[in-house]
Amino acid sequence: MKKSSFLSLLAVTPLVVTSGILLAQGMGGGMMGGMRGMSGVQVPADNPITPAKVALGKQLYFDARLSKDGTVSCNSCHDLKAGGADNKPVSTGVGGAQGSRNSPTVWNAALHNAQFWDGRAPSLEEQAKGPLTNPVEMAMPSLDAVVARVKGIPGYGNQFDAVFGKNSLTIDNIARAIATYERTLVSGNSTFDNFRFTDKSALSQTQWQGFKTFREVGCVQCHMGPDFAGPPPLARGDGFYQKFPLFAEGTLVTKYKLQDDLGRFDTTQQVGDEHVWRVPSMRNVKETAPYFHNGMVPTLEEAVRVCAAGGNNRDLTQGEVKSITAFLGSLSGVLPEQKMPKLP
Ligand code: HEC
Ligand code: HEC
Repeated sequence: MKKSSFLSLLAVTPLVVTSGILLAQGMGGGMMGGMRGMSGVQVPADNPITPAKVALGKQLYFDARLSKDGTVSCNSCHDLKAGGADNKPVSTGVGGAQGSRNSPTVWNAALHNAQFWDGRAPSLEEQAKGPLTNPVEMAMPSLDAVVARVKGIPGYGNQFDAVFGKNSLTIDNIARAIATYERTLVSGNSTFDNFRFTDKSALSQTQWQGFKTFREVGCVQCHMGPDFAGPPPLARGDGFYQKFPLFAEGTLVTKYKLQDDLGRFDTTQQVGDEHVWRVPSMRNVKETAPYFHNGMVPTLEEAVRVCAAGGNNRDLTQGEVKSITAFLGSLSGVLPEQKMPKLP
């Protein structure tokens, strides 16, 4: 594929950032400063972004009292200072319980059309309710119990009144506030974005070589588009799904048990959805080891080898692995600093 045709796959809807708050994304328009190189963050009509809602959602995100025994917050598994994930194969929830999937980063989750490795949640709002009652995550007995818990903390009620109106402390509004905060967790301005938009010398020789190899090998059959996660635009809730592995003969696929989990099939029960996954974004991928849905692949270099084998039936040379890994490193954006909020 020629460079020009690949770059055209990276069609861009720029983010519009004003005073740190995202205003009017998903509608195209010119570059207005702020984050360069990202696809649009879509804001649902019934959940507009306001600064007070962002501040409320941030408190809830960091508040471990939303978990059964008060020890686990969203940030425990999506540590914003650790690339938005927990850097463990699988996460540890209340009481040391463990699930079977790796914690994906929340940075740029607002850009996905569907959430979770298998895309089973159509929005950040829907997603945010899941971990609260998941027994291996925050383990609350019910969503009603979450509402009662938050109501019992003086200082939240007033904020809900101010943001959503009187008597508005409901589970839907808790989820709306958290989702709103997540929509501010976007990171563009990576070295690769600089290369694409302003500075043709931004990539090192090795990164440029890796970018070419990434295209030639065919990684872009799946990791394409502005976030290297599929073609834009897709309807809300509709993810870009692919079977992985496509080629299962390789020893790497069996070594890392990448066929044990049925992926989307567990949610849809549709024949053909076995081992189908939402194609993960390559943005900030360097920051989120270990890799793949089960977190069994320890390093980025190894993840490149595994995906080349399982996705492209290719056994890459050491040089190719090195350069692709260097290119993927150029996709790490600037993560705006997040200070721990003062909790009520
Ligand atoms: C105990 C660890 C844990 C806690 C606590 C937790 N998560 Fe997660 N989160 C995960 C794991 C594991 C997944 C992937 C699960 C899957 O795909 O089946 C996930 C997935 C997500 C995703 C989807 C990202 C993507 O790329 O698809 C978002 C967004 C998210 N969590 C936000 C939150 C929010 C908000 C909270 C707090 C309300 C929270 N998480 C609490 C572990 C955790
Ligand atoms: C057929 C589609 C397809 C092709 C081709 C493909 N990938 Fe993937 N890639 C995926 C899917 C789907 C996953 C997630 C699978 C899973 O977790 O089981 C993934 C996961 C990854 C991951 C780990 C991401 C994470 O957050 O854990 C990396 C890195 C990666 N691919 C790089 C590459 C590279 C480099 C190439 C080219 C050599 C490539 N991929 C080719 C579909 C593909």
